[in-house]
Amino acid sequence: MSTAEPVKPASTFVKGLDGVVAVQTSLSSVDGQRGVLTYRGINIHELAEKAHYEEVVYLLWYGTLPNRKELADLEARLAANRPVPDQIIILLRNTPDNAVPMVVLRNAVGALAMSDPEAEDISPEATRRKAERLTAQMGTVLAAYHRIRNHLEPIEPDSRLGHTPNLLYMLTGDQPDPLSVRALDLYQVLLAEHGMNASTFTARVVASTQADLHSAVAGALGSLKGPLHGGAAEATMRTLFEIGEPEKADAFVENAFKTKRKIMGIGHRIYKTGDPRAMHLQKWGQLLGERRGELKWFKILKEVEQAVYRYRQLYPNVDFFSSTMLYYIGIPVDMFTPMFAASRIAGWSAHVIEQYADDVLIRPQSEFIGPAEQHYVPIDERE
Ligand code: COA
Repeated sequence: MSTAEPVKPASTFVKGLDGVVAVQTSLSSVDGQRGVLTYRGINIHELAEKAHYEEVVYLLWYGTLPNRKELADLEARLAANRPVPDQIIILLRNTPDNAVPMVVLRNAVGALAMSDPEAEDISPEATRRKAERLTAQMGTVLAAYHRIRNHLEPIEPDSRLGHTPNLLYMLTGDQPDPLSVRALDLYQVLLAEHGMNASTFTARVVASTQADLHSAVAGALGSLKGPLHGGAAEATMRTLFEIGEPEKADAFVENAFKTKRKIMGIGHRIYKTGDPRAMHLQKWGQLLGERRGELKWFKILKEVEQAVYRYRQLYPNVDFFSSTMLYYIGIPVDMFTPMFAASRIAGWSAHVIEQYADDVLIRPQSEFIGPAEQHYVPIDERE
């Protein structure tokens, strides 16, 4: 029996799906040439100046900005959902102190699915309610794990505090200062949603099989963890520690290009003239660094940015300036990617709801490039 020639796929292979339009969405638009990002048509600069995170969450999930009552209702539901079930705290207490926080978060999302009464219900109403629970609880999980690994008791959320102040309060036990709250809220607004990035695509692929929201979010968390995606802010901060001093940045960058080492926080698949989110994070990073009297890390960042541009015209992305801003707020470095996740949960859930609404299984083809015709060789005849 002879084997036919491998069948060529109908369309051409595009490495990394670069430029391929895989999904239609009303959630966000990303214009990489002009450096423009919008959520539901509203420019990110306007949202960065004026909106807070819960408003953006509502905008993404419901399609319009909330009126006062709609916003207050959403805030009340998030507050009611913020405490996590006891089993989650037990799970966190039984987690090694040196676990990777993104793995802890992924496990917690799996465990939250087991205690969610609507886990398997993929109707839009149930998915929105689950999205509210996950959005409210991710911060609680992260703060509780951080305290437990430092041999401190977890702190219950304070229902009088909003989403962002609660996050900082549960981490430290102190009433958060307004500047840190404003900066972290802005960060969450900027990171809430972003077109067809790798983790959102993962979430949509999972949802396209009609699997549940928790499964889609667990998949997205796995995708976000990598240093080419959400892990880049932590990797940037570690690069700054490695460089150590502003005057060493140029030599570091020169050597990185010479040795073909990727400089974290630099470059973007879509933005080729700069990332519109970066300027806001830069401004707030500098402000917080000045307040802490520890501008050194921000100065190294700026030196790296300028040196990169001198050697090659590449621009910083959102993770570059997130790094020092989160550091100056006091977020532990290994919690940077989980903080990204706790913000992007808004966009992931909105995409899952959008995918269910007009679902088609996402299932591309592969082009077989192996040998054309081979035969089974009995084991005793193999080399
Ligand atoms: N450091 C050094 N060189 C970089 C670079 C970086 N961070 N980012 C891109 N380049 C170079 C590439 O080596 C490539 O050079 P070449 O043309 O000589 O081969 C060129 O710029 C184009 O980059 P490429 O990797 O093809 O772009 P991409 O669209 O496939 O990748 C990223 C985009 C984000 C994966 C890539 O820029 C990167 O790895 N950045 C660092 C990780 C990061 O910050 N990720 C967060 C993204 S929001």
